[in-house]
Amino acid sequence: MLKIGEQIEINIEKIVFGGEGLGYYNDFAVFVPMSVPSDKLLVEIISTKKSYARGLIKKVIIASPDRVSSERITFEDYHGCDFAMINYEKQIEYKKEMVKDVFSRIAKIENINFDKVISAEKIFNYRNKVIEPIGYKKGKVISGFYKRKSHEIFEVEDNYLQPKEVNKIFTYLKSRFTEKKLSVYNEKKHKGMLRNLMARVNSAGEIMLVVIINGNITKELKKILNDTYNKYKNVISIYVSINNKKTNFALGDKNILLYGEKIIKENLFGINFNISPTSFFQINIEQTKKLYELAISYFSDIKNKNIVDAYSGTGTIGMILSKEANKVFSIEMVESASKDAEKTAKENSISNITFINDTVENGLTKLLNSNEKIDSIIFDPPRKGIDKDSLQEVVNKNINELVYISCNPSTLARDVEILVSNGYKLTKLSIVDMFPQTSHVESVVLIKRKHS
Ligand SMILES: C[S@@+](CC[C@H](N)C(=O)[O-])C[C@H]1O[C@@H](n2cnc3c(N)ncnc32)[C@H](O)[C@@H]1O
Repeated sequence: MLKIGEQIEINIEKIVFGGEGLGYYNDFAVFVPMSVPSDKLLVEIISTKKSYARGLIKKVIIASPDRVSSERITFEDYHGCDFAMINYEKQIEYKKEMVKDVFSRIAKIENINFDKVISAEKIFNYRNKVIEPIGYKKGKVISGFYKRKSHEIFEVEDNYLQPKEVNKIFTYLKSRFTEKKLSVYNEKKHKGMLRNLMARVNSAGEIMLVVIINGNITKELKKILNDTYNKYKNVISIYVSINNKKTNFALGDKNILLYGEKIIKENLFGINFNISPTSFFQINIEQTKKLYELAISYFSDIKNKNIVDAYSGTGTIGMILSKEANKVFSIEMVESASKDAEKTAKENSISNITFINDTVENGLTKLLNSNEKIDSIIFDPPRKGIDKDSLQEVVNKNINELVYISCNPSTLARDVEILVSNGYKLTKLSIVDMFPQTSHVESVVLIKRKHS
């Protein structure tokens, strides 16, 4: 039996869903974060369970050929990116393996043949939305990432994934916060002001900044943000979000616009979308275009169809579909996102779309039981996937054609299994790499009614 603190030598055999490497020590499974198949490692055990243990790399003894460095070994070394130690081509291979593995274990579907595997051209600095927790270290205001499974913040100089301009503005803000001795929020005591920094950037390079605080906006904070607005011409919108709650969720209920525009715009397929601070928008714009194009191509004969865009966010997919479809119904539960979508439709003269600000659980059931004829549905749920009752409703109403975009292969496989056991067939499965340097993987599937 392995003990905490024990150091062992281990060979890594595979990467499992979630991104950790797996090796065996005397037939006992040991999971090792930041490891790569074919690594021979010196590992220190940090936790043990009945059937497996977890260990951290102390030293790379023999580096896998897929590894980018044998000196940089920790999560912090790779700026909080759990796949950045693997060369990019292999990241894609491991993502394919993870999806296959999950489909085999959960959906009991073997021999997956991917329809498309779309990797990214821009593999660094691709994020258009950034949220960093704020902390305090050695007399300075810092921001960055939480260390793994902890709430201790670590700061990196030039964050891998976010735009360089945002790094610069965050550095400026933090130096001004330090200079003016603004207080930093302390989770345990629920005291202090500065909680998080958030930025959104569009393809035109325009930036929306949101400073998330506990308490009230002070004169000093307002002055710093006014100076930031004047100094950086590409900052077109500055909000302060008030979050007085004890919660891990960053944004508060009250978002106060201090300077500039209420929303930031992003152009996709000729439509100018409106995005507020609280609305969901895909974080990698280049890959989003490819994802949407692929997902939409999975519908046969869009013309004359009535299509539901379920979990629609700011209405992107629905509005792109509405160019060709007869009618579209977009269902989204976040009010600001639905409002952004309505504004976008009006401004872009799109009239064959209806926005339903409701949960999919309620809104889809009502719609499927109304007089509207629904031909197809596209789902793009959060990580937890689609609830069982909504899937059952889809099955009961014999909806022929379902496209499902998912950021979590395990809930996707679970939902596909439910549909397959109710008369549907998994027709196509693709992956689009929306998140280079991380183990996250985005899948798109086409599911059709059998014998339809
Ligand atoms: C992964 S995002 C997809 C958004 C959109 N399809 C896009 O590409 O931008 C999921 C969306 O579902 C919304 N959502 C989460 N749970 C929901 C529910 N139960 N009912 C309706 N919408 C939900 C979230 O607010 C978010 O906007």
